[in-house]
Amino acid sequence: MEPLTPQEQMGRLLTGHWLGQAVYVAAKLKIADLLKDGPRSAAELAAATATHAASLYRLLRALASLGIFVEQGDGRFALTPLAECLRADAPGSQRSLALMIGEEQYRAWGELLYSVQTGKTAFDKVFGMPIFDYLSKHEEQAKTFDAAMVGVHGRETAAMLDAYDFAGIGVLADVGGGNGSLLTAALTRHPQLRGILYDLPGVAERAKANLRAAGLDGRCEVIGGSFFESIPTGADAYLMRHIIHDWDDEKSLTILRNVHKAMGAGSRLLLIEGVVPPGNDPCFTKLLDLAMLVVPGGKERTADEYRQLYAAAGFDLARIVPTKSEVSVIEGMKHGTT
Ligand SMILES: C[S@@+](CC[C@H](N)C(=O)[O-])C[C@H]1O[C@@H](n2cnc3c(N)ncnc32)[C@H](O)[C@@H]1O
Repeated sequence: MEPLTPQEQMGRLLTGHWLGQAVYVAAKLKIADLLKDGPRSAAELAAATATHAASLYRLLRALASLGIFVEQGDGRFALTPLAECLRADAPGSQRSLALMIGEEQYRAWGELLYSVQTGKTAFDKVFGMPIFDYLSKHEEQAKTFDAAMVGVHGRETAAMLDAYDFAGIGVLADVGGGNGSLLTAALTRHPQLRGILYDLPGVAERAKANLRAAGLDGRCEVIGGSFFESIPTGADAYLMRHIIHDWDDEKSLTILRNVHKAMGAGSRLLLIEGVVPPGNDPCFTKLLDLAMLVVPGGKERTADEYRQLYAAAGFDLARIVPTKSEVSVIEGMKHGTT
C-alpha cells in the first residue's frame, strides 16, 4: 500500500475517538464475553444485548476491519486476540479500561479546550466535582476505576519488580495502592516482605477483600484514610505508583510532606511514574500528561521537576531506576540521610 500523505495521516488522527467509542460500546455490551463459547451472528448478539441488530452488525463489521473480532464466511462473528482483551475474565483484561475511558473520561476530554484555555480541570467542569470525590459517590464507577488501573498500569508491575532491588526492605507501604494488585505481586515475589496498603476508606475495603482472597491478609495491613491528612508510620519504603502525577505541585507537596513525617531516617520513598523525556519521540507519558490535565488535574514531570519537588518536600532524589515499561522508580531519601 502507498504510504499515507500528511493529510491522510491527519484524517486518521482526527477520527481516533471514533475507534475508542466503537471499542467502548463493544466492551460495554460484553460482546467478547458473549463470543467466549464460539461464533455468533449479529442477530443473536443483538438479542442477547437488547440492541438494534442492523446497527450492531455495522459496529462489529467496523471493528472486524481493525482486527477486533472477525466476520466469518457464514456471517457470524468470532473472537480474535485483540477482541480477547475485552473479555471481562481475560488475563490482563482491558474491558474496565474501555469503560473508564469511554464514559466519564470521554466526556471530560470533550472539554480539553477548556483545560488548555484556563489550566483548570475539565472533569470538574463537567461533573461538578473532582474525580476522586465523584468515585467515592459512585461505587460502580469506582470499581471500574480500580480495575482499569490494572488494565492500564498492570504490565508495569512485573517490570518494576524486575528492575528494583527490594532487598533490605522489611515493610513496604503502598500509598494509594488501589485494589492491592501491585502489593499482591510484590509480596508474592518477595516472601520476606510485609505490606501496608493505604487508600481512601472505600477503596481500602475492596482491597482488603482482594488481599484476603490472595491469602496475604496475614502479611498485609490495610488502612483507610487520606494522604492529605496523614500517612501510616512504620514502613521501610513508601511506594506510590501514579499518585503524584494526579496532583498539582501544591497538593503533591502536601502528600510528600506527609510521607516525610511518617518516614523513619533510613526509610525510602519510591515514586513509580513515567519521567517525561526531552525530544520528540513517541511517548505515552506525554499523552498521559494530557489525561492528567483533563481528568484529575495533575501532570507528568521531567526528572528535574521531580528533583525540585523532592527538594521542596525535604527529600534528596537518590536515583531514577528505569524499567522495561514506560515507568521508572524515582527513589528518594530524607534530606541529609543519603
Ligand atoms: C491513579 S490511581 C493509582 C492506583 C495504584 N497506585 C496503581 O498504580 O494502580 C490513584 C489512587 O489514589 C487513591 N487516592 C486518591 N485520593 C486519595 C487520598 N486523598 N488519600 C489516599 N488515596 C487516595 C485513589 O483511590 C486511587 O487508588
